[in-house]
Amino acid sequence: MHDFAYSDGVLKCEGMPVQEIARNNPTPFYLYSYHTLVEHYRKLKAAFAEMDPLICFSMKSSSNLSICRALVNEGAGLDIVSGGELFRALKAGCPPEKIVYASVGKKEEEIAEAIKKKINLFNVESVPELIMIDTVAKKLNKKARVAVRVNPDVKADTHEYITTGTSENKFGIDLKTAEDIFDNANKYSNVELKGVHVHIGSQITDPAPFVDAISKVLEFVDERSISIEWINIGGGLGIVYSDEKATTGDEFASYILPLLRGRGLKLILEPGRFIAGNAGILVCKVLYVKTGATGKKFIIVDAGMNDLLRPSLYEAYHRIVPLVERKAEPRRYDVVGPVCESGDYLALDRDLPEVVPGEYLAVMGAGAYGFVMASNYNSRPRPAELMAYKGEVRTIRAAESYKDLIRGEKILKELK
Ligand SMILES: Cc1ncc(COP(=O)(O)O)c(C=O)c1O
Repeated sequence: MHDFAYSDGVLKCEGMPVQEIARNNPTPFYLYSYHTLVEHYRKLKAAFAEMDPLICFSMKSSSNLSICRALVNEGAGLDIVSGGELFRALKAGCPPEKIVYASVGKKEEEIAEAIKKKINLFNVESVPELIMIDTVAKKLNKKARVAVRVNPDVKADTHEYITTGTSENKFGIDLKTAEDIFDNANKYSNVELKGVHVHIGSQITDPAPFVDAISKVLEFVDERSISIEWINIGGGLGIVYSDEKATTGDEFASYILPLLRGRGLKLILEPGRFIAGNAGILVCKVLYVKTGATGKKFIIVDAGMNDLLRPSLYEAYHRIVPLVERKAEPRRYDVVGPVCESGDYLALDRDLPEVVPGEYLAVMGAGAYGFVMASNYNSRPRPAELMAYKGEVRTIRAAESYKDLIRGEKILKELK
């Protein structure tokens, strides 16, 4: 479900014509639907209601303050991966006791800040990191609450860059080492081992690998009679980008709840894409239509890989649609950006109705891992983020200016 749909022949967001929004805002820009965002959260929360889960939105997927705040207002927590995300999470008003912190490379000062701010749980990813958390907590004369991120060695059928739960990946701790950690818990005197965490990857549309991974973790907990308060089953739920059959929140819960019932565990989920992915689009303008020597046609738009990296990075598919619906015979195009890289594209060999310079296109499903991966490559200012909110379109992040591009830079006086 999402709130971007054609009606009366034009693409609308929460009932508002995107064409009009595009006329009033320089392209490219991201446009999010507040309603879609909170509905996705509510559906997942309702699906797992019997366990009263803490749903920590994975803010790496979309970290704008208004997006995080909208979810925090619904009762969500946040899943963070850096000191910067901790800063954002607190600015967004997230209660620290609803923050969980993963990442294989937490720095000493990031750990110290998170302990001081009293976050709920560190998801620890290695023994050296656990030692560091213990040492930092000792220095601060505090206790740090930790969940052990277990790597269950389960392969999920997704892009190799976004699979995280196999022994080949850098994430998490193998079961043997996890056992040693729990057996020697008293070695870490300023750490409280409160839970286990598992996250096997992203854009996973089949429930089977989740069931495998969670079953393995529970078996591990049972066999060693490990006493924990929290189980964190991570994120990773896939969405529909093209013709995937995605698992709904209810279906997902129907597979997972039977594994967790009756254990007295508190449940955390860390969805990112499932909540934000289809709650946002990227709107861009056609600059030129060009035919190459071989007859190949290119639509050159004003958004590039610096605005939306997923197609270039993972060959990700995003549906691209005109803002005004039409029945014209489709032609085959590459939709490319202005960045000086052959890999700068939004779509390859895509059938689209004939488009003309000046018209707008919407890149669908761009709400997760979209703006957050935007960069200034080619000295391109990052685009604005807008949000449809209760019948109005509001700016939640202004487009960057050229001045923003050189913020913090200076010409050495010796060079002047
Ligand atoms: C530890 C962890 N939790 C949650 C997520 C969110 O994943 P997704 O956006 O697929 O739900 C990620 C994404 O990589 C992650 O690494």
